[in-house]
Amino acid sequence: MAGSKVDIVHVGRGNPAGEWLRCFWQPVYVGQDLQAGWAKRIEIMGEHFTLYRGEGGEPHLVEDRCPHRKTQLSTGSIEGDDLRCFYHGWKFAPDGSCLEQPAERITKNSKVCIRSYPVREYLGLIFAYLGKGEAPEFPLFPELEHDNGYPIRARRTELRHNYLVRVENDLDEAHVHFVHRRSAGLTNEFSVLPEGFDAQETDYGILRLTTRDRGGKKDVRRKYFIMPNVSLTSPPPATELDNWAPHLGWRVPMNDETTYSFIVSRNKPREDFDPKSYPPAQEIIDAILDGRMRIKDVDPYHPRLFHIQDSIATAGQGRIHNDRENEQLGRSDMAVIKLRQIYEREISALQSGKPIKQWKRPKEMMIVGFFPKAAE
Ligand code: FES
Ligand SMILES: [Fe+2]
Repeated sequence: MAGSKVDIVHVGRGNPAGEWLRCFWQPVYVGQDLQAGWAKRIEIMGEHFTLYRGEGGEPHLVEDRCPHRKTQLSTGSIEGDDLRCFYHGWKFAPDGSCLEQPAERITKNSKVCIRSYPVREYLGLIFAYLGKGEAPEFPLFPELEHDNGYPIRARRTELRHNYLVRVENDLDEAHVHFVHRRSAGLTNEFSVLPEGFDAQETDYGILRLTTRDRGGKKDVRRKYFIMPNVSLTSPPPATELDNWAPHLGWRVPMNDETTYSFIVSRNKPREDFDPKSYPPAQEIIDAILDGRMRIKDVDPYHPRLFHIQDSIATAGQGRIHNDRENEQLGRSDMAVIKLRQIYEREISALQSGKPIKQWKRPKEMMIVGFFPKAAE
């Protein structure tokens, strides 16, 4: 069960898991970090791209290098919605067609083109479809469109390990009792070790159900995992300064060794203190992994406390954890086992040219009752 016959770890183009993950829309950048008239070189699943925003505000995604002599296109200039290469001025439209090659005296009908990718901006993130053929239907999340009275916040965090351990962490309820038990939170949500674990494959992915006994009363926590790498939940407040808030997380490989966590949430802004007055989360994670600091020394009010806690566990599994054959899985790993079975099934199907499952989520909201806390 623990072992994996299919490579579900490596994500470069041509790798089985990489090809499967490219069948889905994925977030690639935070919208507000890309201003009109700017281009950025980005890396997603081991490939580089040029992401730019036209002068009118539309985002576009094209390949990394100019086809002429292969310089980095992100150093070029933006003219309207077009991108002109810095080196010899070849100009490309957002659909990849080459509009001008000035020193070649070609100003139209050029045979040259670059790859371009469908892009969409939603919930503060820029998404792209990097796969073959027509892009699938764009996935919407009414849970985060719903206005809970707090502003929507989108952010990207770099995680220094392979994507799969972070995806598995999303399915792992037993860890919360140990990893997140120490916080300034007034909640005691995680103080009880779950007794019942269940994970069901659904039309959208996995419904994870965890039962806790709270003084004789059974309490079932639901968590939704949307294929292939999206976690939808309503985590408890880390501190009394926080609120129960809907929370969407995509774990997108930057490459095999590094992962982007794209988060969209609607949290109560912490107005009464400056998050910059806390040391950067990565410094703390590195110090703990190096033995220069202990977990119990982390300020329980640190605004990235949950991220720090999860990252110590997942980065602690190694930069690329690829030794699943020798793990000792138990009953509490049921959802992780289910995830691996689905990944292996779908990735093998794609590899052998068989149809893959077309995941579909319900149109209605999957978590409700955000005030004062999410429905269980
Ligand atoms: S390298 Fe881009 S125009 Fe020459
Ligand atoms: Fe966690």
